[in-house]
This record gives sequence, C-alpha cells and structure tokens, in this order.
Amino acid sequence: MYHHLTVVALTPETPDAVTIHLEHPDGQVLPSQPGQFLTLIVPCGPDGRKERRAYSLSSTPHEAPRLSVTVKRVTGGLVSNYLLDNVQVGQQLEVMAPLGNFSLVPHPQAARSLVLVGAGSGITPLMSILKAVLKTEANSRVLLVYGNRNEESVIFQQQLNELEGNSNGRLQIEHVYSQPLHPGGAHQHTGRLNRTALLRILEQRHDAPATQATYYLCGPDGMMAEARAALDLLGVPANQIYRESFVAAAEAAETAALHGDVSAAPAAPAGTRRVTIRYEGSEYVLDVPEKATILETALAQDIDLPYSCQAGLCTACRGKCLSGKVHLDEREGLSDAEMKQGYVLTCVGHPLTDDVVIEIG
Ligand SMILES: Cc1cc2nc3c(=O)[nH]c(=O)nc-3n(C[C@H](O)[C@H](O)[C@H](O)COP(=O)(O)OP(=O)(O)OC[C@H]3O[C@@H](n4cnc5c(N)ncnc54)[C@H](O)[C@@H]3O)c2cc1C
Ligand code: FES
Repeated sequence: MYHHLTVVALTPETPDAVTIHLEHPDGQVLPSQPGQFLTLIVPCGPDGRKERRAYSLSSTPHEAPRLSVTVKRVTGGLVSNYLLDNVQVGQQLEVMAPLGNFSLVPHPQAARSLVLVGAGSGITPLMSILKAVLKTEANSRVLLVYGNRNEESVIFQQQLNELEGNSNGRLQIEHVYSQPLHPGGAHQHTGRLNRTALLRILEQRHDAPATQATYYLCGPDGMMAEARAALDLLGVPANQIYRESFVAAAEAAETAALHGDVSAAPAAPAGTRRVTIRYEGSEYVLDVPEKATILETALAQDIDLPYSCQAGLCTACRGKCLSGKVHLDEREGLSDAEMKQGYVLTCVGHPLTDDVVIEIG
C-alpha cells in the first residue's frame, strides 16, 4: 500500500502552484485511473510528524510509470507550503497507491459528451480525465469550463491551449475570470462561475443535448452547488453528475457558523462504544470514546489503518459495516449506492451501538 517515489521533475504552473512528477525507483507502474488521487505522506508536522494529504493525479495512465500531482499553495497550510517551498528533484516522497471514485475508465469505442467544470486547483483531476479521453476516445467530445481569478492564475494554461489546438474540435475550453486582466477575449467570460454563467455556456453548445452529457465537477463548494443547480434546471439525471471536494463541508460550515446561519452538528453518542475492525487478516477491538472517530481511536493505538484526507472526502478509509450502527459526520465521499450497501468512512465515523464490526479492504 505504501511506496517511496522519486521526484523526477518539477513544473512551475503559476506563482503558487507546482506539478511534482514522481516515479518508482524500479520503474514499477502503480495502477491508476484518470481522476484518482495520490496520498502524499510528508514529515512536515510538529517534531517531524508525518502528515497525509490527498492530491489528485494530473497525469494519466498512459504517462506511466510517471505519476504527477499538482499542488496549489493554501495560505497557512502545512503540507502545501512545505511541498511548494521544499520539494526538490531527486528527493523521495512516501505515497499511498492511487485511490478514488472520481474517475473515468476510457474506452476506445466510446462516443460521449463530457462536460468538466472546475475552478482553481480543481482542474487537476479534470486535466487527467480530459487528457485520457482525448488520447483514447476518438469519438468523444469534451467541454471544459474553468474558473479562475484571472489569466495568470490558470494552471496548465499552455498545455490546455495545445490540447485544444490539436484536438480537431474535440476539446472546447471556456474560461471564466472573476477579475480578468484583459477582458473580452474569445471563449472568455467575466464574473463568477455560477449557475447563470454555466447555463449561458451550456446553451451555446450544440453537439449533444445537456441531458445526454456526463458532468465532472471539482472546485469550491459554492461553485459546485451553483453548477449542480444549473444541471438540475436542465434536468440532468443525478447519475450523470460526478463531484470531487477538496475541502470538507464541515470546514465551510465552521466559517458559516461564525455568521450564525448553520445549525449545530448532531450530538455525539454518549459513552464509549466497542468496535471491531477487520483489516488485512487481523482483527482489532477498539473502545471508541464519546466524540472520537473510529480512525483516530485506532491511530492513537498505533493500528495502521488506511486513510488520507481525514475529512470524509476521499474514501481512503472506507470499510463495510457488517453489524451495528455508525454515524457519519460527513458523507461527501460516499455514493448513495455505497451508503445502501453499508459502507462507512472511519475518519468521520462514530459508533452508535456496541456491536459495530467493520471490514476494511
Ligand atoms: C480527494 C482530494 C484531492 C485533492 N487534490 C488536490 C490537488 O490536486 N491539488 C491541491 O492543491 N490540493 C488538493 N487537495 C487538497 C489537499 O489535500 C490539501 O487539503 C491542501 O493542499 C491543503 O493542505 P495544507 O496542509 O496545506 O493545509 P492545512 O494545514 O490542512 O489547512 C490549513 C487551512 O486551510 C484550509 N484549507 C485546506 N484546504 C484548502 C483548500 N483546498 N482551499 C482553501 N482552503 C483550504 C483548511 O480548512 C485550514 O483552515 C485534495 C483534497 C482531496 C480530499
Ligand atoms: S480518510 Fe478520506 S474519507 Fe476518510
């Protein structure tokens, strides 16, 4: 599950984003799907403690054995600043194998209409998906709607121009700038990437009805809510819409709660609850204290369970609940079908009963 990869190249994308290209020292290929993410494990915490963060692959499987991630600086952020300021070619980085459901399996016979909607660093998984589709699916078409502050904050600017120019019309890019430096260019829109902007752009697209396209959304929660509202208005079925969040809604809620417009989180179950975890042939019995999550209780006891974002977004910690009841603080990463099948996320999961058994892997 864990690998040490060598940094083989660095590509500065914007003043605050860099692409880190990684390869296994033995040339080993780590299987991945376009749109999945890599978990970087970086010793940049207090006293050199290892911190984990998820970074979507901006590369595609046909670039193997190379895996690339693109990291954007978050003000005050521990890992993003460490990576941008310290990573050097030749250095080794510990990673977990690629994971994630926000992905697409390219198929040479496919003839699909894809609409990718992203903002800021949300372009990374979309870049992987669009490169894979252009490379593999000669009959598919991609519309990318990409929101940024201005022309200088566009990640992959040159690559995107080249991909569009060489695509024979299969890739169309519409930029939306909130504060453009040079307003008024072709395929350029001014303002926020909101419902109105997206509806206007989608109306101009005539190659396929909006209800027949598949949509991949990745960006701040506000943008994704606006995009979802636009797609609902157009009558796009929910099973044609995929979304990836980089930041937990709970963090957004904390900020919003300062303004007093978010209700309190549901009360945690009272007392300590017993949980049995089955993982890689071993069985662990945990007494999970009130308010603690199953994952943090396991980690406190040095049980090495898989995890990445610790925020209920990425599903690296996913397990199947075989008995008992678990409350999830966040379920962004799980589909309705996974919820119905009894999947839970240990990083945001609290046992509600004493007979919880979770099987991981
Ligand atoms: C599935 C998945 C894929 C991801 N892919 C990418 C990617 O391709 N590129 C990329 O740059 N990041 C990506 N992220 C985000 C990344 O994992 C980190 O959360 C991000 O780099 C911040 O980490 P940090 O240690 O610098 O900040 P932290 O020290 O964890 O956080 C510092 C503060 O910044 C806030 N914050 C955290 N993340 C963001 C954000 N993205 N925007 C605004 N505020 C934030 C936190 O709420 C906190 O208050 C992804 C996250 C997930 C879950
Ligand atoms: S560690 Fe990412 S969802 Fe639990």
